[in-house]
Amino acid sequence: MKGIVLAGGSGTRLYPITKAVSKQLLPIYDKPLVYYPLSVLMLAGIREVLIISTPQDIGGFEKLLGDGSDLGMELSYAVQEHPDGLAEAFVIGRDFIGDDNVALVLGDNMFHGQDLTATLVSARRKVEQKGGAVVFGYPVADARAFGVVEFDEAGHVIGIEEKPEAPKSNFAVPGLYFYDNRVCDIAAAVEPSARGEKEITAVNSAYLETGDLRVELMGRGMAWLDTGTPEGLLKAAEYVEAVQSRQGFYIACLEEIAYRRGFIDVAHLMALGEGLKKTAYGRYLMSIAREGGAQ
Ligand code: DAU
Repeated sequence: MKGIVLAGGSGTRLYPITKAVSKQLLPIYDKPLVYYPLSVLMLAGIREVLIISTPQDIGGFEKLLGDGSDLGMELSYAVQEHPDGLAEAFVIGRDFIGDDNVALVLGDNMFHGQDLTATLVSARRKVEQKGGAVVFGYPVADARAFGVVEFDEAGHVIGIEEKPEAPKSNFAVPGLYFYDNRVCDIAAAVEPSARGEKEITAVNSAYLETGDLRVELMGRGMAWLDTGTPEGLLKAAEYVEAVQSRQGFYIACLEEIAYRRGFIDVAHLMALGEGLKKTAYGRYLMSIAREGGAQ
């Protein structure tokens, strides 16, 4: 399965913070925001990832992440000229996807929790073995700003609505989607919505209509953090700091994940840590490498 991180958009809702810097490159405590969604694809075992951003910001992502070889990954880059909707990721990424399946994560979505890796691996397997699409439902206090799942009395999913004024449930659809290869044709056929965007909700509705959409509910033990406001950015940073300092384990440490998933070996992890040894981040990498037997 291939992966796409969609990290464009106008960022105007966070002005002036994002006037000169891409939102997805802003720090969330000790690492750039994009590390968190990229880590999600890596935890799903995905090694080939396309990063899509704006013409002015794409260079910043390339500078940050390079070709991915340091992580044992293959990263490539593409530009979205205008923020014309999330489903455009599959139009821009069509050649990259080829005849494979694909997971899309939004570059500003952060996830953390006990069952995250198992949830991701299971979603990937379902799409690989049975086809169709897997998306998630996450309980939120106010679902009006999201795609929202509608259930019938038996708990079956019967609809998904984008930003409804009167949500039919409190289950929002987070920005993480697993699709079979049909998504390229489905996305290409999606017409722009009233707000002029190719909506991801239209893609999910197309899978629902053919009976090929699975919605997996995420439980209370999973954190899906908001990064859409200055308060959300601050709270997300506080969350990461609190968990990391309490547990001693880092969230979304790409080098650690690459090592634990077998993308890189322990000597390579140690070398990456040594290159950053003036920072707590670098020393953390070295400590993980030493646990793994590096000298
Ligand atoms: O975060 C989950 C929600 O994301 C879903 O529940 C909604 O169904 C989905 O439409 C989306 O809603 P948002 O209102 O959060 O989308 P937004 O326009 O803020 O875009 C999400 C991210 O994707 C943001 O970082 C900017 C980026 N983006 C957005 C558009 C429209 C792009 O890179 N390109 C785009 O064309």
